[in-house]
Amino acid sequence: MSGAPFPPQITVLDAGGQYCHLIARKVREAGVYAEVCPSHTPAAQLARRRGLIISGGPSSVYEPGSPTVDPAVFAQGAAVLGICYGHQLMAQLLGGKVRKGEHGEYGLAILERVEADPLLAGLPDKHEVWMSHRDTVAELPPGFRRLAATATCQVAAMGDAARRLYGVQFHPEVVHTRYGREILENFLFGICGCRRDWDPRGRVAELEALIRQTVGNRNVFFFVSGGVDSAVAFTLCLRALGPARVRGIYVDTGLMREGETEFVGELFGRLAPRAVELINAQARFLSALAGISDPERKRRIIGDEFVSVQQEILESEHFLEGDWILGQGTIYPDTIESGGSAQAAVIKTHHNRAPGIQRLLEAGRVVEPLSCFYKDEVRQIGRELALPEALLERHPFPGPGLAIRCLCAEAEASLERRPEGWLAPLRSVGVQGDSRSYRAVLILEDSPAPERKLEVRAAELVNRITGINRVVARAGGRSPLGELRVRPAGLTPERLARLRRADAVVRELSHRRRFDREVWQFPVILIPLGQAGRPDSVVLRPVDSVDGMTARAVVMDSSLLSEITAALLDIEGVSSVFCDLTHKPPGTIEWE
Ligand code: XMP
Repeated sequence: MSGAPFPPQITVLDAGGQYCHLIARKVREAGVYAEVCPSHTPAAQLARRRGLIISGGPSSVYEPGSPTVDPAVFAQGAAVLGICYGHQLMAQLLGGKVRKGEHGEYGLAILERVEADPLLAGLPDKHEVWMSHRDTVAELPPGFRRLAATATCQVAAMGDAARRLYGVQFHPEVVHTRYGREILENFLFGICGCRRDWDPRGRVAELEALIRQTVGNRNVFFFVSGGVDSAVAFTLCLRALGPARVRGIYVDTGLMREGETEFVGELFGRLAPRAVELINAQARFLSALAGISDPERKRRIIGDEFVSVQQEILESEHFLEGDWILGQGTIYPDTIESGGSAQAAVIKTHHNRAPGIQRLLEAGRVVEPLSCFYKDEVRQIGRELALPEALLERHPFPGPGLAIRCLCAEAEASLERRPEGWLAPLRSVGVQGDSRSYRAVLILEDSPAPERKLEVRAAELVNRITGINRVVARAGGRSPLGELRVRPAGLTPERLARLRRADAVVRELSHRRRFDREVWQFPVILIPLGQAGRPDSVVLRPVDSVDGMTARAVVMDSSLLSEITAALLDIEGVSSVFCDLTHKPPGTIEWE
């Protein structure tokens, strides 16, 4: 089922760019429903669109096997806009030339108009755009005219007004492009002739009707988490079908944050008493994880355990038969497996497409009322349903919970003195090149401060020192740095309780000072580095991000940092507090 107006007027063809969902979101923000499809989607399937947008992507059009589009899309009457890689691909497929770039052009550039055209209508002759490319269009395809240039890019915008085909080397979808919204709107309304057909607001009644239609006279059950998506989907079903026909199950894995189970109980209890049952599976998760320190094994054990708990519930409650169907809070990006969103897709597929659930899907026994919405649209719907802001504004929290924020170690070791700081033989996961790394941490002697030079030095040190993928600085501690030791430690109830307390303290203080609104996510990590009687330390990892694929480390101001540090050092067993200075890449957001 879907709440989408069909067919979409605009399709974004995904050439593997991290921005493809951002383009579709921006088109929707302009009031036009857009969907994302793989770049190679046959033209026949795109026949009724008013416009197509070919996204950016990391490849070069010269590389064998790089993403392409069905050339027939240029001849079926829909307007087409190529962005970055899409711009180059269009030039190449239509008979122009793309030149391999010697140097890249990354960041802000000044776009200068060369010739008047509807695409840049109403804009100043010069304005700032955001670029990220190496290759450039060196020769226009026949029929095209050069519309704009920057100092280093001769064909920064091109167009063939008669065929309504356009290409831009810059990214109109990012906020740094000053008139990005206007350019997209010129394309949508001035060139494609789109009408406004999309507003996530005011759709609740329609979504409820769609749920009733999909569910028929059956009942719906959910595995709820406490996250926004499943709560909004659950609430919609509850309203559409009434409390007697909707049930939720919340599995407490023992890897939740402090107060999470109570939060979930209260949230759903307010919606409908007894609609959600809490199942305590703590003991089985913790015993399966005992003695395990390898991050990948931790993840696999949690994933497998989750699948078996779900399966047992499905079977024992007879949800696999009769008149029950499954409700899920799957949102739009989760449904698409494509180059740019592959990582997220793999993570999510795990929970929403487990074997028992897959069988139900194939049998048409799943209802996913949010499957055509983006997260910010889901929040908007949640607001209309009067769900609490405390739920709607929650930071993302990973499925495997605190387990991936509780670092383990197998052997005892001391820190190693280096000219740059102290090397801690504590490995965490990172992402370097295109693959995951599992390396040590460098601790700087400097105090953490929100300064650009510290950030630059951290990045430079990760590049220079082989064997590390993260750099941290110490905000405070109970003993000199050189006396700290790594101790063997696993995922014990005691350490999880310590982490849970530290996480709760940080959440409370950063919420009080509204710092949680300034960052996208704020993981708190426990590491087995300490001293006698205080075996662990805490790492603060607030990050700024758009989608979690890339992230920037944020250091808070010194007064909040001292307040948080003092409170953390009061927790039993905590020896030091560190701030992670590593961006993603080369670090990942979670330490695992
Ligand atoms: P990394 O650590 O890969 O995390 O930089 C990127 C984003 O993904 C979240 N994350 C997960 N979310 N299930 C989830 O639902 C998972 O298994 C999972 N692992 C990481 C992480 O919190 C961050 O927002």
